[in-house]
Amino acid sequence: MSRTIWLGTNWKMTKTTSEGIEFVKRLEEIVGRVSPTIQAFVIPSYTSLHPIRQALGSSRLLLGAQNMHWEDRGPYTGEISPLMLKEIPVDIVELGHSERRAYYGENDADLNKKIHSALWHGFRPLLCIGENIREKQNGISREVLAQQLKVCLKDVTPEQAGQLIVAYEPVWAIGEKGVPASAEYVSDIHAFIRSVLQQLFPEYDIPILYGGSVNHDNFMDYLRIPDVNGLFIGRAAWNIDGFEALLDEVNRLLAEE
Ligand code: PGA
Repeated sequence: MSRTIWLGTNWKMTKTTSEGIEFVKRLEEIVGRVSPTIQAFVIPSYTSLHPIRQALGSSRLLLGAQNMHWEDRGPYTGEISPLMLKEIPVDIVELGHSERRAYYGENDADLNKKIHSALWHGFRPLLCIGENIREKQNGISREVLAQQLKVCLKDVTPEQAGQLIVAYEPVWAIGEKGVPASAEYVSDIHAFIRSVLQQLFPEYDIPILYGGSVNHDNFMDYLRIPDVNGLFIGRAAWNIDGFEALLDEVNRLLAEE
């Protein structure tokens, strides 16, 4: 029972604050009874972060933000700064989700600034990477992923690298129209991501999570892959009963190991 398994959900724009509080209250109870080697986290909308932090108390459950500007202050209407997130405080800052890249023009160079800012302010950056369907069909998934990792993580020091979390989320596997990736594909790609991260930061085993249409039928197949350190789940975990079922199953798996 030694390995840590990360299980988290990004709520995207799906829950109001009162819905979110109800969810985390139940989740705290569940987290309290499962193995401490399961590291659960939730990533609500900005407006819910403070009330949810207040509701959480001293729970093991980690709290994350869905994005962050790299500057502490400035004329950036609609943006949220690290100082604002620090006051809440959050533990994790999710950066580079494919929806941010696709709809809001996030690019790897800006993500690099966000990563540095997040590390400087003591957050754990959860960097999302993934190839789109065209890139996969053109056989350049590995090149795309290596580029995303190398640009986003440029100049991160070995001392900071221990704070990083990476989520591999193939764009073609995410959301309603997503097609779940096969376990073989995830296994191959995670081994590749591991090799790139080991070249960059040989001192650390950075957690690599898998996300994209994870559901009750496929999650165990992904978790059995050696280079998968956890799952980043959308729809299948937005209902607390669904998330509870996943957490209980993973708890059983760990008890058997
Ligand atoms: P999904 O979302 O599990 O609903 O496909 C995953 C994600 O976008 O992180």
